[in-house]
Amino acid sequence: MGEYGTVGGRPSDIQSRPVNVPILDLTRVRQRIATQLDERWRRILDQSSFVLGPEVKEFESAFASWLGVEACAGLGNGTDALILSLRALGLQPGDEVIVPAFSFFATAEVVALLGGKVVFCDVDPETLNLSPADAEARVTERTVGIIGVHLYGRPFDVDALLDLCRRRNLWLLEDAAQAHGAEWKGKRVGGFGQLAAWSFYPTKNLGCFGDGGAVTGNDRALVQHVFNLGNHGQSVRYTHMEIGTNSRLDSLQAAVLNCRLALLDEDNARRGEIACRYHGAFAGVGDLRLIPDPPGVKTVYHQFTVRSSRRDELMAFLKERGIASAVHYPSPLHHQPALKGLVEARDEDLPVSTAAAKEVLCLPVFPELTNDEVAAVSEAVRAFFGA
Ligand SMILES: Cc1ncc(COP(=O)(O)O)c(C=O)c1O
Repeated sequence: MGEYGTVGGRPSDIQSRPVNVPILDLTRVRQRIATQLDERWRRILDQSSFVLGPEVKEFESAFASWLGVEACAGLGNGTDALILSLRALGLQPGDEVIVPAFSFFATAEVVALLGGKVVFCDVDPETLNLSPADAEARVTERTVGIIGVHLYGRPFDVDALLDLCRRRNLWLLEDAAQAHGAEWKGKRVGGFGQLAAWSFYPTKNLGCFGDGGAVTGNDRALVQHVFNLGNHGQSVRYTHMEIGTNSRLDSLQAAVLNCRLALLDEDNARRGEIACRYHGAFAGVGDLRLIPDPPGVKTVYHQFTVRSSRRDELMAFLKERGIASAVHYPSPLHHQPALKGLVEARDEDLPVSTAAAKEVLCLPVFPELTNDEVAAVSEAVRAFFGA
């Protein structure tokens, strides 16, 4: 699915064969929270509080306060978080929404699903995040909003996008699916746009053990509206004010999130430490390009992404040596077959996104990765380039 590549490998394999580095190992996450999670899951089972129970309420309020935002609504997954946000923001068929051409498919899919017109803009050549200048060039009188993606855990230029949205009277929806804890000028993302959509898919920095999602924001009524849409459009039980759907955060998943939220600062710090080791090892190596953090940006390294003209060879070299890596994403969104006929975009109009898809490679970066594993990845990458 989407960005997810191989999710596997076991600690026992790693002990017996030092060079077998997975892209992610969720069994290590499970081990860290097992006792607390068992307790929480037992309580849910004892109380039969499976849907909209206390675990969900606890998580919504803990996540909102951790982010420093007014409100959070738990939902079924990140895609629904985007869809229901667009509905609450009033998207109408034919409305144009500007979306970066380099992201996971869901970012564009949701606009098309609701009958909106996807207008791709290119990304910045250094950060691979949406380019505010290019977004501005795509605004027309039919544009209603922009979906900004904090790609790979690195915030986009929030000030520039907010300024553009204010000047052109557009809403901003943050796709924060990859950026739990990322900061722009000392403030966590998730409260800058009118709404922010979150995914808790298992691979995320804050992931559950199944599907989960949420919407956050500082307008309580708007967030409540999203929640109501995910609860069959009810404001009061059995009074359905509008056509909604069923998209609620599952209690068992909320329990995982409650356990993992308590560890998230520590986990993000460890990701930063690993990234720092990679930065040290890769400086000046071959034609490798690393993604810089512009001033004011704190990245949470959902992915550690390198760029090379020899990406496919490098990936194969690492694989031979037992090191997993992944390509997020192998094609820009305007190449996706599902959008054919819906989107008018040519490679020449989106050169950075088009080139990035051929160059990017994501290396293992997860909190439980050991320093030996980080060293094994670093040495293999350096060896590929003869460094
Ligand atoms: C940028 C981005 N947006 C949206 C989504 C969709 O989230 P979900 O898989 O929870 O539906 C994802 C990933 O999963 C994502 O990476």
